[in-house]
Amino acid sequence: MPRDYDKPLDVLSVADLCVDLVLTGDVVPRFGQAEQLVDDYYLELGGSATICAGQLVKLGARAGLIGSVGADPFGDFVSGRLAELGVGTERVVRSEHVRTGLGVALAKQDGDRGILTYSGSIDATPPESLTHDLLALARHWHISSFFLLSSLRDSWASWLSRCREAGLTTSLDTNWDPAERWDGVHEILPLIDVFLPNAAEACAIAGVEDVGVAGRRLAEHGGVVVVKQGADGAAAFHGNDMTTLNLTDEEPPRIVDAIGAGDCFDAGFLRGWMLGWGVEECLRLGNRCGRASLGQAGGFRGQLVEDVSRSAQ
Ligand SMILES: Nc1ncnc2c1ncn2[C@@H]1O[C@H](COP(=O)(O)OP(=O)(O)O)[C@@H](O)[C@H]1O
Ligand SMILES: [Mg+2]
Repeated sequence: MPRDYDKPLDVLSVADLCVDLVLTGDVVPRFGQAEQLVDDYYLELGGSATICAGQLVKLGARAGLIGSVGADPFGDFVSGRLAELGVGTERVVRSEHVRTGLGVALAKQDGDRGILTYSGSIDATPPESLTHDLLALARHWHISSFFLLSSLRDSWASWLSRCREAGLTTSLDTNWDPAERWDGVHEILPLIDVFLPNAAEACAIAGVEDVGVAGRRLAEHGGVVVVKQGADGAAAFHGNDMTTLNLTDEEPPRIVDAIGAGDCFDAGFLRGWMLGWGVEECLRLGNRCGRASLGQAGGFRGQLVEDVSRSAQ
C-alpha cells in the first residue's frame, strides 16, 4: 500500500484523450450517397484513463492526467469535461500540432457497435513528457490503454522502475491490443503491483485458454492479477491464492451499455487497494463500480458516487 499522503495526487496516468460521438439506431451504413436516419446520439469524453480517473474522483480519491488535446472545439470539450469531473489537468496541454482524437461509434440496439477512430491526441504524449518531477506529484502510477499509447511503449520499463525507486506503486490495464500481438506486456509485469486485464486479454497475454490458468501464470510475475469477467464478476490471483466474488445474491444489473465498465472497475479496485483493504473488499468495490456504469450510456454517467475514504465496505 502506498503511503506519502502529503503528495498532491493519489493516482496519475497518461490519458488517451479523445471524444466519443455515439450514434444509436438499427442502421447499417451504406455507401452510394445513401443518407439514413439514426434514433439518437451523444457526445462524451472518451478514453480509458479518463473514465478511470473520473471514477476515482467520485470515490474520494485525487486523480490527475497527463495528455494533449488539439486547439479545436473537441479539445475545448475534453478540457471542459475534465474540469467538471474534478480531475487534475495541470499536465494536459493544448497543442497546435495535434487534432483531438475522435471515436465515431454506431451502436445497435442488440449491444453491438462499430467504431471508427481517428487517433490524433490519443497517442500524442511523447516519452519526454515522463519527467522526474511527476514522481513527486502522486502516490500511484496507473497505465491504461497500453496498446493505444504506442509512443510510450518502449519507455514504460524504465519509467516504472523509476516509479518503484521513488516509492510509487503501479498498476496496468492494457485493454485490447488492436494488433492482437500483445507485445511488451510480459516485460513490464514484474514492475506492476496490480494488473487488471479482462478475461479475454488475460488469456491472450498468458497464451492459454483457461482464465484460471491465465490468472495464475500472470501472477507469477509477483503482483496481484485481477481478471475481470463481465457478468461473472472478477477474480484476483496473488501467488498461489485465488479470491473470487460470490455474486449469487446479486440481481442482474440494468444494462444500457458496457462502455467503461472495466475502467470503472479498475478505479474501484485501486481505490480500495490504496486504502489498504483486503482483496475481497477491493473486488467488491470494483464490481459495484463496474455494475453501476452499465446502467447509463457511456462510461461516466452511471459512475458510483461514494466517498469511501474511511472504511472497507
Ligand atoms: N453483464 C454484467 N453483469 C454484472 N456485472 C458486470 C457485467 N458486465 C460487467 N460487469 C462488471 O464490470 C466489470 C468489468 O467488466 P468487463 O466487461 O469484464 O471488463 P472490460 O470492460 O475491461 O472488458 C466486471 O468485472 C463486473 O464487475
Ligand atoms: Mg478493459
